[in-house]
Amino acid sequence: MSSAHPLDPFSHDELERIVSHSRAAWGLNHRHLFAMIQLEEPAKSDVLAFTPGDSFERAARVTVLDRSTTLVYEGVITTSGSVRSWREIEGAKSPVLSTESDEAIAAAKADSRVIAALEKRGITDVSSVLMETWPIGAQIPKYLDDGRRLVWTPMWWRPDPEANPYAHPINGVYAIIDLQTCEVVGLEDDNVTAIPQTRGDYRLSQTGGNIELKSLDIVQKDGPSFSVDGWKIDWERWSLRVGWDQREGLVIHDVRFNDNGDVRRIGHRMSIAELVIPYGDPSQGTYRKNAFDTGEYGLGNYTNSLTLGCDCLGEIVYLDVALANPEGVVRTIKNAICMHEEDFGILWKHVDMDGHVEVRRGRRFVVSSIVTINNYEYGYYWYFYQDGAIEFEAKLTGILLTLSDEPGVAHPSATQLEEGLWAPYHQHTFCARLDLDIDGTENSVIEVDSVAREMGPENPHGGAYVTTNDVIAKESAASRLLDLGKSRYWKIVNPNKKNHVGQPVGYKILGNVNCLPLASPDSVIGKRAGFMYKHLWVTQNTAEERYPAGDYPFQHEGGDGLPRWIKQDRSLENTDVVMWYVFGLNHIPRIEDWPVMPVERLGFTLKPVGFFRRSPAIDVAPNEAKCHCNGDSCNCGPGCGCK
Ligand code: CO
Repeated sequence: MSSAHPLDPFSHDELERIVSHSRAAWGLNHRHLFAMIQLEEPAKSDVLAFTPGDSFERAARVTVLDRSTTLVYEGVITTSGSVRSWREIEGAKSPVLSTESDEAIAAAKADSRVIAALEKRGITDVSSVLMETWPIGAQIPKYLDDGRRLVWTPMWWRPDPEANPYAHPINGVYAIIDLQTCEVVGLEDDNVTAIPQTRGDYRLSQTGGNIELKSLDIVQKDGPSFSVDGWKIDWERWSLRVGWDQREGLVIHDVRFNDNGDVRRIGHRMSIAELVIPYGDPSQGTYRKNAFDTGEYGLGNYTNSLTLGCDCLGEIVYLDVALANPEGVVRTIKNAICMHEEDFGILWKHVDMDGHVEVRRGRRFVVSSIVTINNYEYGYYWYFYQDGAIEFEAKLTGILLTLSDEPGVAHPSATQLEEGLWAPYHQHTFCARLDLDIDGTENSVIEVDSVAREMGPENPHGGAYVTTNDVIAKESAASRLLDLGKSRYWKIVNPNKKNHVGQPVGYKILGNVNCLPLASPDSVIGKRAGFMYKHLWVTQNTAEERYPAGDYPFQHEGGDGLPRWIKQDRSLENTDVVMWYVFGLNHIPRIEDWPVMPVERLGFTLKPVGFFRRSPAIDVAPNEAKCHCNGDSCNCGPGCGCK
């Protein structure tokens, strides 16, 4: 029994107990690796019934890879060691585990054929080679397609320890490694071309970084305006619980808003449930790059410690997270999650005809976490605003993936960065899983289109348009596309609760940047990531339906996840639904994205629509510290609010 909240991430101590209980209960030994240990989240009704002080039996879902057979098992076990379930997951292939990656790279670097292939390219010191292990991600070579788990190894050369290896891709040599046996089962050794030599330096010691501004300090002399109680956060009228998962990374739970004393539920659980990056270049070194960073690696595994290298300003509060590595060794990532407030410019303003001014400055609360997966960084930022809005923003930065070739060769699906160096086109496709509860669990999702009326008696001047509101009633109609011509958006409403003008209370989802996939639906990645082809999916909420490409996308034949689930054609009206919002960035690399890409942003906003009686931002007090007052005299003009 535990006094922790049912949704708290596991502590270091809890994870150690889970590992040791799992070993004892299921007879695990050196052949077994812990692929994932996740909180087995209790049913929504149990979470809602929980009150602080209750003791609650917490349980973990433990995914185990048996390396001797490559079979995958899932068990559910409590922190005190009682087993709830244990079963083999038929046909599942484990994500790539760090232990396996390390061993695969060591095997490739020791392989005489790999060494000889590198020598042909002028490299005699394998320690100067950066090798990455990537899931095959496309057609598996026929002679290897017998069900084994395979990775392949793009390689880069690092001329000195501080050099940027992505400036120096090694062309034409790729080892294919069986993860079970750690054998190099295939070697492609085709195009011997010169390694590009132009450096891609970005370290301060190399670049100088001498463009300076005067200092800008964020001072919160009274401390931050949020309070932290374990994993529960209160800020302004918002309350929420921060969560963390080894697969998804940052998770937000139990979002509520205090509306004049009425604490109203908005979100039960929000996360980015998948992130997949299909590459659009057919060359030998790129066509297999189609990684599911969430489902094939476990994004949370790569969470940065912000002890060093956090660039947030102001009063920061951090949360640590704990995770078990594949051998079951538990480690703590210090300062894994960052929380702070940001000034966010003007919230609202009006100057009346008599010169009276009302203006409010806005602030937002930020919860964030950053992961580094090989070359790339992804920042996940959740923002809470004073007008009732919630925003998710992904920040994309880090280093472009690169390929090299003979100078002058055409690469129409890549951007040339330097002589012999290209960055292939690709798409970053995210899928948010949004288990929202608008004033309760029973909700419906509505598609709202703005439609121009025909010119005629009802539209004599030609400017009239109306909105249509269509309930997405069943799953067979629940995979939707954006439509710019209709300014389409979707809202989730509670049909059982009406606002003061008789409309159901709700929230709408608004995207910003988005795209559609360019990979053919018949391609391997098109089949495996079928969710990419729609922008919104709605499903009936089911605990087992967690990931839009299914639980085990690694080498999956395709068709799993959302495209399969909606075939159940369940009713979506006035029930517990999940909205899945798919958003992507078509990344045509710019030369200016090199050597480290300035942050690109994309995401979505959840905005109240008929949820409040009026703008909740009206109740925000004016900012005190906005003018330069001199004793009793204020020369800021009307409306500054300082007197
Ligand atoms: Co990119």
